[in-house]
Amino acid sequence: MKKIYLEESEIPKAWYNVKADMPKLPPPLIMADTLKEPPIEMLQRLFAKELVEQELSTDRFIDIPEKVRNMYSIYRPSPLIRANFLEEKLGLKSKLYFKYEGVSPSGSHKSNSAIPQAYYNKQIGINRLTTETGAGQWGSALSMACKVFGLECVIYMVKVSFEQKPYRKILMQTNGATVFASPSRNTKNGIALSEKYPNTTGSLAMAISEAVEDALSHENSRYALGSVLSHVVIHQTVLGIEAKKQLEKIGQYPDIICGCVGGGSSFGGLVFPFIPDKLNGKNIDIIAVEPKACPTLTKGKYAYDYGDASNMTPLIPMYTLGNNFKPSPIHSGGLRYHGSGAELSRLVKDGMIEAVALSQKDVFEAAIQFIQTEGIVPAPESSHGIAQAIFEAKKADREGKPKTILCSLTGHGHFDMSSYENYLTGNMVDTCPTDDEIEDSLKYLPEAPELD
Ligand SMILES: Cc1ncc(COP(=O)(O)O)c(C=O)c1O
Repeated sequence: MKKIYLEESEIPKAWYNVKADMPKLPPPLIMADTLKEPPIEMLQRLFAKELVEQELSTDRFIDIPEKVRNMYSIYRPSPLIRANFLEEKLGLKSKLYFKYEGVSPSGSHKSNSAIPQAYYNKQIGINRLTTETGAGQWGSALSMACKVFGLECVIYMVKVSFEQKPYRKILMQTNGATVFASPSRNTKNGIALSEKYPNTTGSLAMAISEAVEDALSHENSRYALGSVLSHVVIHQTVLGIEAKKQLEKIGQYPDIICGCVGGGSSFGGLVFPFIPDKLNGKNIDIIAVEPKACPTLTKGKYAYDYGDASNMTPLIPMYTLGNNFKPSPIHSGGLRYHGSGAELSRLVKDGMIEAVALSQKDVFEAAIQFIQTEGIVPAPESSHGIAQAIFEAKKADREGKPKTILCSLTGHGHFDMSSYENYLTGNMVDTCPTDDEIEDSLKYLPEAPELD
């Protein structure tokens, strides 16, 4: 079967929270000055009360509000696609399945969290949300969700993406959002960062500093984050819950699950619902794929660090390259983040999840093979998963043990054609920070308890 669909009535009724099943929980978020957990009032000044409760929850399941399920019905359940044409072209015996989130109105999985975040804020009378966006996928998703629920939306878009992906910006504006290239002149953080780094192309960490400051300096305003934090990953578990059911329908179970990682929300969303099975002895290899230009899980340090560039957020226990790390302007804007979610980091640290890093030329080569066989243009971020899935399939075949591989296809790349042009014209360059550069960036980690 080419596409495995579920009925609308099978849209999950609850999200899954991996914290209920993790053998070792990540340590809590802490404040840099007190080294204590952030006061609830502070968290609630940033996020809606319900989202803060989800952030701290260890309940296994969290009910999805009916209004959110209704909005999900625009594009959920999303299809699971068997990439049989790609398999044929490559002569594979292994089977490749992709959970395709490009069918959402914003073109990626980001709507899965944008919708509930806008909903919960509207519920408590908030009228304005601020956020950052890297490649523009999260900004597109939040602008749409805000429009539906009647909230104003202010977006700080990483400068390099603002320039590389103008149509993403226009999509956000079409949904009524105000979009600034970050660092901007609209916030004190933006001005300070521009002065400190006059030639910067921006980073997600800088854009987060601006969005947080903006939310805190406007009444009735809250901040929305597109990845990393537990509540965001919880919302994304609709991916894994649906994929598991879809595979079950055709009598399959994955030997390998892989996908791209920026802050880790789509990856966590796809793989966490399989973690209980792995803990119960199922033999699944789970592989997180990141860019060599921003090798957080493969070369970063497991430590407490800020989530932003101006030291405004609580400290997060995560793999980090340091919040000063400036990834080169690769085309996968959504993967240029210095850290990774706390649960994902803990599971990598504990050996439950493996991490690998790929160069962007290899990633685009795989993306082109995918386009020319499956007819879907993947986002550059998603193509990291595709490249790894192909690698794993070939390896399994070579070893004479074909495998069933499940991979996230987190979004389409219709707004990323300039990246493809860059690849096709031979102008794409691969970059990779040196060990010295990473060590240098890690020197500025905040003083905080060591993590083991
Ligand atoms: C299409 C797409 N996939 C993946 C990501 C990575 O984010 P995350 O690791 O939170 O899934 C992004 C981020 O912007 C994205 O736009």
